[in-house]
Amino acid sequence: MVYAHITGWGMAVPEKILTNDDLSKMVDTNDEWIRSRTGIRERRIASDEESSATLATKAAIRALNLANLKPTELDLIIVSSSSPEHIFPSTASLVQDNIGAKKAGAFDLSAACTGFIYALDMGAQAIRSGSVKNVLVVGTETLSRFIDWTDRNTCSLFGDGAGAFVLQADERPGGVLSSVLHSDGSGGDLLTLPAGGSKYPASAATVRDGLHFIQMDGKGVFRFATRVMARATKEAMEKAGLEIEDLDLIVPHQANMRIIEAAARGLKMPMEKFMVNLDRYGNTSTASIPIATVEAFESGRLKEGDTVVFVGFGAGLTWGALATEWSGPRPVEKRVNHGAYLFWARIRSVILRLMRIAEGVLWGRYGRGK
Ligand code: ACO
Repeated sequence: MVYAHITGWGMAVPEKILTNDDLSKMVDTNDEWIRSRTGIRERRIASDEESSATLATKAAIRALNLANLKPTELDLIIVSSSSPEHIFPSTASLVQDNIGAKKAGAFDLSAACTGFIYALDMGAQAIRSGSVKNVLVVGTETLSRFIDWTDRNTCSLFGDGAGAFVLQADERPGGVLSSVLHSDGSGGDLLTLPAGGSKYPASAATVRDGLHFIQMDGKGVFRFATRVMARATKEAMEKAGLEIEDLDLIVPHQANMRIIEAAARGLKMPMEKFMVNLDRYGNTSTASIPIATVEAFESGRLKEGDTVVFVGFGAGLTWGALATEWSGPRPVEKRVNHGAYLFWARIRSVILRLMRIAEGVLWGRYGRGK
């Protein structure tokens, strides 16, 4: 029997901090309103040099470092994002090239803020089926690029960042225990980024009408989220054959403090069992669960053997939960030098690009054979 263990984790957030007071100079809002309605104090905003792929790459390297796994040993990379670098190529393929994971397959997954749970489940299933051994799962967002900074209903909520887990096959029992994934597309209109896809490709009209910005029915999303968080947590625990009382920690999607408090009431659990860091990062969408997990571990709230549930909700509508027995990194015999791997990844990428140019010249891509 093969189990999928989480053996590495890492996060990356932009340096630039945007506080509620900063926002109050941009739109008609104030710190008191945002804190009392959401719990958010500040969020991180990507610089021009940063993108979903660069943040994902940084988080991935940190996770690989902790797992002491070479990028070349990865079999599969799954990147979950609602703000991918492009429609295609996938952000996962860009990460694959950045880290030099030369034998890994790579694909993006879109399930909004629930995406990391979906991606983790896909990675764990691939390991359990025996088809792969080492999987990198990343949640990454630069949603700040899709926010109308004049719309106070949305601009105070979101932030940028990335988080990554390494999943590895192991015969030791533990790791990912169960998961439940749900969707209700009838609520798709509650939270949308209408244009830029095939229905409304970019045009002067879509830009004029602001259809490249996030649009949200905040109250509708709030009602939906408070209904599903506790229920999904219970389902995942039940599927794992565990009782709610067995839970050591819940890492919920970090959207709104009041939604997390509602989940706590629904589960009849104290808030101390919930990891919360949305005050410092806002809603980083699919990146929020891995970022909160990294901080839970670093602050000593997550220990080997703990039973943890990750639970999230988001656009789609989607929601889900995943129960895991936290295993922690494997014992290390010899440390992998990730700096050297990154250096060779860059060289490899340049060589492959040069070879493609040479091939084009040889086969007439630039003139001959037209
Ligand atoms: N500052 C000041 N006033 C504001 C702000 C703000 N930042 N945002 C909204 N308001 C105003 C509105 O304009 C409105 O004013 P009006 O009545 O004059 O029109 C009023 O506040 C609306 O208040 P409510 O809707 O009652 O506010 P509520 O308590 O519902 O809080 C919020 C709004 C924070 C958006 C809440 O509904 C919420 O968190 N919903 C969930 C949103 C969410 O989690 N989205 C992400 C989902 S995950 C994903 O997939 C990306």
